[in-house]
Amino acid sequence: MKIKKLISKRKINKRIEAVAKKISHDYSGKEILIVCILKGGVFYACELAKHITVPVEIDFMKVSSYGSGTESKGSIDIEQDLSGTIENKHVLIVEDIIDTGITLSSLLPILEERGPASIGITTLLDKPTRRKVEVDVDYVGFTIDDYFVVGCGLDYDQRYRALDYVGVVEE
Ligand code: IMP
Ligand code: MG
Repeated sequence: MKIKKLISKRKINKRIEAVAKKISHDYSGKEILIVCILKGGVFYACELAKHITVPVEIDFMKVSSYGSGTESKGSIDIEQDLSGTIENKHVLIVEDIIDTGITLSSLLPILEERGPASIGITTLLDKPTRRKVEVDVDYVGFTIDDYFVVGCGLDYDQRYRALDYVGVVEE
């Protein structure tokens, strides 16, 4: 399997710092509860949290959009829930990539029902041309074309998550 570099480590780190700066500014005077979407969101969430200057808490949630084969059915399964409450907290959902938008658009009402003070969304990568459901994303790292990418948390069959760059899998 060959991986072709799409976004370099240097570019990613610089961009994450810029996004963190914007988030720190927008949430000035507040505290953030990062809701990291497992597994892929972990790498971005850690890098982001290091550069956010307002107080940050972090919690984790594992969700999967279910259905047969590769096509998502439009709803999600919570495989692992958050360890604590989000009531009255400023939640920032951290995802690795938004593709069809099904995962996040199904997750949002579930979290909204728990009474957070606010919900924001950030994703390292966005593939808007693949969207099936609209999602209001507040902070996007990079917008990319319709490639299947790996690295920085993204996997191909559980592999390549730990690459420090984003690459395209070439058969
Ligand atoms: P969505 O519900 O289609 O937006 O699904 C997003 C999820 O699909 C992400 O959290 C990833 O786990 C997975 N995904 C989508 N595109 C890619 C990709 O290019 N590489 C690896 N995983 C992807
Ligand atoms: Mg994922």
